[in-house]
Amino acid sequence: MSDFTNTLPHGDLIERLAVLAQNSTVIDSSFYEQHDVKRGLRDSNGKGVVVGLTEISEIISQKKDADGNSVPCEGELYYRGIPIEDIVRGFIDEKRFGFEEVTYLLLFGKLPTAGELKAFSELMSSMRSLPISFVRDIIMKRPSVDMMNVLARCVLTLYAYDDNPDDVSIPNVLRQCLQLTAQMPLLSVYGYQVFKHYHDEESLIIHRPDRTLGTAENILHLLRPDGAYTALEAKILDLCLVLHAEHGGGNNSSFTTHVVTSSGTDTYSTVAASLGSLKGPRHGGANIKVVRMIDDMKNNLDSYSDTEIRNYLMRLLNREAFDRKGLIYGMGHAVYSISDPRAKILKSFVGLLAKEKGLEEDYTLYSKIERLAPEVIADKRRIYKGVSANIDFYSGFVYNMLGLPPELFTPIFAVSRMSGWSAHRIEELSNNGKIIRPAYNAVAERIPYVRLADRH
Ligand SMILES: CC(C)(COP(=O)(O)OP(=O)(O)OC[C@H]1O[C@@H](n2cnc3c(N)ncnc32)[C@H](O)[C@@H]1OP(=O)(O)O)[C@@H](O)C(=O)NCCC(=O)NCCS
Repeated sequence: MSDFTNTLPHGDLIERLAVLAQNSTVIDSSFYEQHDVKRGLRDSNGKGVVVGLTEISEIISQKKDADGNSVPCEGELYYRGIPIEDIVRGFIDEKRFGFEEVTYLLLFGKLPTAGELKAFSELMSSMRSLPISFVRDIIMKRPSVDMMNVLARCVLTLYAYDDNPDDVSIPNVLRQCLQLTAQMPLLSVYGYQVFKHYHDEESLIIHRPDRTLGTAENILHLLRPDGAYTALEAKILDLCLVLHAEHGGGNNSSFTTHVVTSSGTDTYSTVAASLGSLKGPRHGGANIKVVRMIDDMKNNLDSYSDTEIRNYLMRLLNREAFDRKGLIYGMGHAVYSISDPRAKILKSFVGLLAKEKGLEEDYTLYSKIERLAPEVIADKRRIYKGVSANIDFYSGFVYNMLGLPPELFTPIFAVSRMSGWSAHRIEELSNNGKIIRPAYNAVAERIPYVRLADRH
């Protein structure tokens, strides 16, 4: 594939202009405090600035003590007021999949009856197809190395296949959201198969979705050359989809959904913007980093003793190992402190999968890192609210064990989060919110205009 930007003339000029652009936009960091600006829309203690109300989900990481002070507590997550643990226990105990049920819950605010769930799952299945020749004309036309880019481009292109794309009435938006939720697994996996074909010269495999299967099973079916998977693999992938489906209106991509929806634009533009947000390594990309960090660790350790692991973790923090960013990936969270409930739930199933895959030694390594990393971080950094393993610590390991390629880690997050974005888009539209338009203080000096002939 040719790289157009490398063929651009005037590379030197661009370099010099880039320095100019950067130098002309650096703002003195002390100004932020002076102007009382909440950078990243967060208080100095990390708490988000309140910018809206939502009924879709709730995250709790602090509680009041007897004196009324906020103190860190075990993390809690509620979808539409129901604890995530109870939701998971419900569908696991009844030996069925949970993603379609949770999508229904997030969108419609109530758990479906058996009849409602069946009808909803059938509706989703009936929508799980792409327009005729879409794979050939759109996905195969210009393969991309990044499947999030494929997703965003395909979503925008689907606008052109919609007879009623700009109608933001709730029935029309709901139809579009459900359709995109059903189509997202196809776009992700087909994008990956096309990339493997053109980039890595592998055979091109385009399986058709199976109408009798739900979202998790279809992902595995579409991805595997023989379409086969075990019951445990499907169950754990479904669990990952449930746990990634929603995380409050303040997470970067859901807030993007609110911001873009509030301008009155169409569903395709909104979802493409949210995909762009999720693509960022500070948001959806952490689980890939976890897997790569642990691969590097395995290559550099002589044994999995506590001392060796601790030393490696210390080298990570000292920017001496892996990507030298000073981070232990999969640890810490902007909101959670003592624990991330999603990580706890996922961990309880990871051991089973590791056993099925014969990867118990890796599981032991992950468990040791989970125990030692918070201690090492607490030694080296100023911790206000506690650091613990987050969901990405185990989801990367799970995806690896499922044989999912790293290229699909973030797209699978997107497949799942599409249900949360849909609920937030409908919530924003239903409440006739004002266009979201915060303020920026201008801190540049006023200077006089100079005529061209007089400039030096
Ligand atoms: C998610 C994250 C950005 C939250 O950062 P935060 O809001 O600053 O969290 P805290 O307030 O608890 O951090 C307190 C201190 O510990 C540090 N810290 C937190 N998690 C850390 C980690 N995983 N590795 C190294 N240092 C970490 C922070 O940098 C901060 O130190 P500083 O004040 O010197 O900058 C951060 O934990 C992180 O980068 N984690 C690794 C990436 C990751 O797994 N992301 C997925 C999140 S679901």
